[in-house]
Amino acid sequence: MSDAGFGRPSLAVVVGASGGLGRALAELMVESGAYERVVALSRQRPDGWEDGARRAWAAVDILKEESIVSGARFVATLGVPTRIVVATGRLSGLGLAPEKSMRALDARVLGDLFAINAIAPALVAKHLLPLTPRDRTSLFGAISARVGSIGDNRLGGWYGYRASKAALNMFIRTLAIELRRARPLGVCVALHPGTVNTALSAPFQAGVPAEKLFSPRQAAEALLRVMDALGPGDTGGFRAWDGSNIPW
Ligand SMILES: NC(=O)c1ccc[n+]([C@@H]2O[C@H](COP(=O)([O-])OP(=O)(O)OC[C@H]3O[C@@H](n4cnc5c(N)ncnc54)[C@H](OP(=O)(O)O)[C@@H]3O)[C@@H](O)[C@H]2O)c1
Repeated sequence: MSDAGFGRPSLAVVVGASGGLGRALAELMVESGAYERVVALSRQRPDGWEDGARRAWAAVDILKEESIVSGARFVATLGVPTRIVVATGRLSGLGLAPEKSMRALDARVLGDLFAINAIAPALVAKHLLPLTPRDRTSLFGAISARVGSIGDNRLGGWYGYRASKAALNMFIRTLAIELRRARPLGVCVALHPGTVNTALSAPFQAGVPAEKLFSPRQAAEALLRVMDALGPGDTGGFRAWDGSNIPW
């Protein structure tokens, strides 16, 4: 696979493009016209996402490394990714519920959360970052969560989700250090989208003031503004939807 990218089409890639936030990010990046094509990678084809001159889709299950590898091969056939956003994630469902107390800690559930929220995005980076160009700026952003901040943890609870996002943050920071050596124009960051009205947050929205509950489009617009403003000097950071730095 090429890693130089001279003259090849510039792509945006959204991993988890079938999700609330991923779908909105993918759509907005098509609308922006900033990329020759937006590549959606997800288990299911995103609603209304038809392959064409500006859009492509491939099935990827981030829990299977060989599936990520075939997604990366597909991306490489289309061009060079200059923006990669990993918008997959899991908080609850399928026997998984955020723990209110240490009594609820369960090794299988913790393992599942780490696999989806931390290990899988790191493997996505392993296979997609080598496709980013050396001659241009690029950005790899993983959607993390403020609750993954150790410094910001005052409420406790949600052990597995918090810890898996903290692990994701460490992967991002470590990837950024390695990326700087081979691709000094590359940016690698963790991002917090705010509280967004999606399937993931739906069971936990009680008590969230209306003005603090973003639509997926609002959150995606905010995150794209943040990403567009970041440069190589910002690599390795953890940013919120409003551009502010979040403590690790
Ligand atoms: N919503 C919020 O308030 C909020 C707040 C802070 C952070 N976040 C983070 O934002 C990101 C996006 O979440 P969202 O709110 O948009 O939730 P969502 O609508 O539930 O989207 C999550 C996506 O992850 C995908 N996914 C899960 N396991 C996968 C796998 N093995 N392979 C491929 N895709 C997989 C899901 O695909 P399937 O449909 O195939 O399962 C789904 O498309 C997550 O990282 C989440 O932790 C969200």
